[in-house]
Amino acid sequence: MIYMDNAATSWPKPHGVYKAVDKCMKKYGANPGRSGHKMAIEAGNIVLYTRENLGKLFNVSDPFQIIFTCNATDSLNLAIKGTLKEGDHVITTSMEHNSVVRPLKELEKAGVKITFVKANQEGIIDPEDIKKAIKSNTRLIISTHASNVTGTIMPIEHIGTIAKEYGISFLVDAAQTAGLLPIDLARLPIDMLAFPGHKSLLGPQGTGGLYIRDGLSLDPLRQGGTGSQSESLIQPIFMPDRYESGTINTPGIAGLGAGIDYILTKGQKDILIHERMLLQMFLDGLATIQGVTIYGPKDINRRAGVVSINIDEKDSSEMANLLDERYNIATRGGLHCAPLAHNTIGTLKQGTVRFSIGPFTTKREIKKCINAIYQLSR
Ligand SMILES: Cc1ncc(COP(=O)(O)O)c(C=O)c1O
Repeated sequence: MIYMDNAATSWPKPHGVYKAVDKCMKKYGANPGRSGHKMAIEAGNIVLYTRENLGKLFNVSDPFQIIFTCNATDSLNLAIKGTLKEGDHVITTSMEHNSVVRPLKELEKAGVKITFVKANQEGIIDPEDIKKAIKSNTRLIISTHASNVTGTIMPIEHIGTIAKEYGISFLVDAAQTAGLLPIDLARLPIDMLAFPGHKSLLGPQGTGGLYIRDGLSLDPLRQGGTGSQSESLIQPIFMPDRYESGTINTPGIAGLGAGIDYILTKGQKDILIHERMLLQMFLDGLATIQGVTIYGPKDINRRAGVVSINIDEKDSSEMANLLDERYNIATRGGLHCAPLAHNTIGTLKQGTVRFSIGPFTTKREIKKCINAIYQLSR
């Protein structure tokens, strides 16, 4: 199988990830932070190791500012619902995934007002449009770091600077970029960063996290056992226990730690260079095929490893099925859980066929994809 669905979840994972999950399950699969026996301590150590690895990758000096969640959706729900209250105003973009849009729509019922700032046809947002939308009750600005439909990288530094100037919290959805693009949280004006562990961070499914800037307090969505202050009937207020109730996904987190090890050892820059080389090759190949529409910016430096296309007026889900059945190529067709983004680029009806590159994608595979698209276009 030629796996071109890395934007949904990355596959394959580095060998070390499988090994770390297996070792955790077999050797010390106890509950971290609860009991005091050797296995529980080892489980606690691996969770700390992964948290520290995330701190290294995102340049966060206190790794306890990063909490573990199940996925990016879980992180976004906490960041959004833990911040916004009745009467608040929130600004976001027309390129967001439903994991931002749906929690907001739910809050709209409870009296939160939303402004969606519209991107252009390439999915690019003008930060000045965000500035113009600010009101006296704007509490939160949310932007995806890169669109999962067009790959467009958003000007998050510029947007964050505006948010900071007005004293508004800034939440970034790094689902398509964490592990791929450099994210320096000591430097960037970001208050909260939501990320999945299972995409470019190369960890297993069921892992994710949320960075919460020091001094920012959210209302937790869940209360329960944390292994700390067991005598208290009240949720602890300190990080990360305030937000990490219940047994966490220790095997998944062990695998995520190994995924980040791979990135740190291989070099994030080299992975990005590899993916961008393939991206350029793919875009150049597609540009020669008649009838193919490519969405998003032409400049590879302005996009993540996601390429959405259409072939004439052909149904995108049907094309994705043919790629799978005839050519053994795994892509995604239809709408990619981001109807506002599809509306922005004019593909709400047709959807798109989305190819997404990963660190283990090869030149040979890209050539085969171009060839398959050429044949389908005829
Ligand atoms: C931009 C974006 N945000 C959020 C998500 C949700 O991520 P998860 O599946 O980890 O909840 C995705 C998933 O594809 C995404 O692409």
